[in-house]
Amino acid sequence: MQSIEFYRSEFLSYLKEYTIDKEPVNLYEPVNYILNLGGKRLRPVLTLLSAELFGGDYRKALNAALAIEVFHNFSLVHDDIMDDAPLRRGKTTVHEKWNVNTGILSGDAMLISAYRVLEGYEPLIFQKLSRLFSETALKVCEGQQYDIDFETREDVTIPEYLQMIEYKTAVLIGAALQMGAITAGQPENVQSDIYRFGLHLGIAFQLQDDYLDAFGNPETFGKQIGGDIIENKKTYLYLKTLEGGTDIQKKELLDLYSIQPVDPTAKIQTIKELFVECGSADATSEAIREYSNSAFAILEKLPVSKEKKDVLRQFGESLMVRKV
Ligand code: IPE
Ligand code: IPE
Ligand code: MG
Ligand code: MG
Ligand code: MG
Repeated sequence: MQSIEFYRSEFLSYLKEYTIDKEPVNLYEPVNYILNLGGKRLRPVLTLLSAELFGGDYRKALNAALAIEVFHNFSLVHDDIMDDAPLRRGKTTVHEKWNVNTGILSGDAMLISAYRVLEGYEPLIFQKLSRLFSETALKVCEGQQYDIDFETREDVTIPEYLQMIEYKTAVLIGAALQMGAITAGQPENVQSDIYRFGLHLGIAFQLQDDYLDAFGNPETFGKQIGGDIIENKKTYLYLKTLEGGTDIQKKELLDLYSIQPVDPTAKIQTIKELFVECGSADATSEAIREYSNSAFAILEKLPVSKEKKDVLRQFGESLMVRKV
């Protein structure tokens, strides 16, 4: 097994070959734009790592990794429309650079292209990958719908929130890992163990994303800070404040979440202070730790060498201290 950097760089070379140089330009230019905007590439790296963790060859997993990354980028283009987000990876979002219709259609083209990438696999592997892919993609849609539904609901519970982030984010991370195991010819029990590792890691990852959305550094995070607050997202930070805050703090949060000021700076600032004062910021960090630890506990039980598991564990650890 090689280093994370090796797999990332192999994936990036593979992605470079993928540029779609076709007409109509207005359909494919945004696709190439978003795919080359950078990003951590953590899902494709996980696919390659998983293949090699189980004795497969990462080269056989490159198409699965590519399909996952193209799907992920599709979901970001549509997510940015839904979340009215101006910035992605430090650059203008597709629907702002072009327009909403372009974002919808280029996103659709990416979703379909992601499936086409899988067509290169032999029938049996293709069937397994494509079944997992469809199941996962549908869950992502369900998670995204819950995320939107929750914006206008006041009675969202923490279990509901956890279910929502499992669907919108964690299942794709689980699937990325499972696809690596499938290309390595692993049986279903092994596939399901590595999937569960990804699910826990993915929940920690989305909790961290929520945390960074409020407390990240605007210079490095690459997305609009406070975007979730502007959109009234029911994040872990928000729900924990309603759970553990004083009556005054809860009322203040509910009042602020009910207004949409033209300039949201003060609203964001006050809400962030509330998150810190009532301990929700710390509670979120703690939950990130807990989910990461439960992911690592699943990893520990896998029947592969400690040396290999350590590479995945270190990668998981690095995600939890990320600034991007
Ligand atoms: C952003 O994913 C969407 C979430 C699920 C939080 P990433 O944080 O992996 O985005 P990139 O690909 O690195 O930009
Ligand atoms: C996005 O969640 C999950 C998907 C894209 C499916 P967020 O809306 O929190 O992701 P970011 O913060 O915009 O990257
Ligand atoms: Mg978003
Ligand atoms: Mg969203
Ligand atoms: Mg987010």
